Amino acid sequence: TLPKVYVTRKVPPDGLDILRESGQVQFEMWDSDEPVPRVELLKKVKGCDGILCVLTEKIDAQLLEAAGPNLKVVSTMSVGFDHLSLDDLKKRGIRVGYTPDVLTDCVAELTVALLLATSRRLIEATHEAKTGGWGTWRTSWLCGHELANSTVGILGLGRIGVAIAERLKPFKVKKFIYTDVEQRPELANMIEAEYVSFDDMAKQSDFLAVCCALTPETHGICNWNLFSKMKKNAIFINTSRGGVVNQEDLYEALSTGLIAGAGLDVTTPEPLPTHHPLFTLKNCGKHPHVPNLYNFLLLQEHKRMIQIYLSIKKKKHWTPLTFIV
Ligand code: GLV
Ligand code: GLV
Repeated sequence: TLPKVYVTRKVPPDGLDILRESGQVQFEMWDSDEPVPRVELLKKVKGCDGILCVLTEKIDAQLLEAAGPNLKVVSTMSVGFDHLSLDDLKKRGIRVGYTPDVLTDCVAELTVALLLATSRRLIEATHEAKTGGWGTWRTSWLCGHELANSTVGILGLGRIGVAIAERLKPFKVKKFIYTDVEQRPELANMIEAEYVSFDDMAKQSDFLAVCCALTPETHGICNWNLFSKMKKNAIFINTSRGGVVNQEDLYEALSTGLIAGAGLDVTTPEPLPTHHPLFTLKNCGKHPHVPNLYNFLLLQEHKRMIQIYLSIKKKKHWTPLTFIV
């Protein structure tokens, strides 16, 4: 019998065709835009050889137990992998795939869009124009801060951070700075970014883009300690994961004018309840974790991951998270 792969979310038909092309794999798909309920998921994965998931599915010990010993590969349609319990996957010798490079450009674009929308107060301005707030031309009404001559800080320099800086450079940014657990000279050289301490990044940035992965080390790292050191004119942008931000502290910082604004693509939880205090703030732009452009490359990637790993008959030695690119 053919190996079975469970796809945890609706993939458009032409996408599924790409996956089916191989012919050597049997796919079952949760054919809905809503997440598969956990109880259902636990049943569906039973006996599967592979799972193709999205970021709403926690792939943890319980799920792996439910899947059983056939499971050889889990691949996620995301660049983030905080929903995967790597220790448990590793213990069972299950290979893991994710989709980093194909998402770099679209995440960088979205980050820049959010940054400009927040700093130039586009969402607020549209609202004012529509609802009669536009009385007359005023000298400093809805003024934002420009990127020209600014310092842009990048928290967590990887491919996405580099791609953001490349896009922002033509806006005449004066200086890029970054901080990370270690220096990344190769990436930093590409954008002439200077490595600084976490505190210096907080103090110097006019715009701060959070691009780090959510890990136990980065959980809640954007908290009062960060915001209280930032400039009053600073704009904070998060397109990584909600978990890196302490939202109570961010709310305080925004509502007391400690920083000028925030643009968030991600929050905890998702979706953020509509009555959440962050929604009451004019200086906080909030996006509903916009899916990265649906991208055939991404499915090609999955097809490859699934094929590669289903063809591994013997369990090989597990190297740390197998990033297949
Ligand atoms: C989106 O958030 C992703 O991780 O790809
Ligand atoms: C604004 O529209 C200006 O002319 O300065």
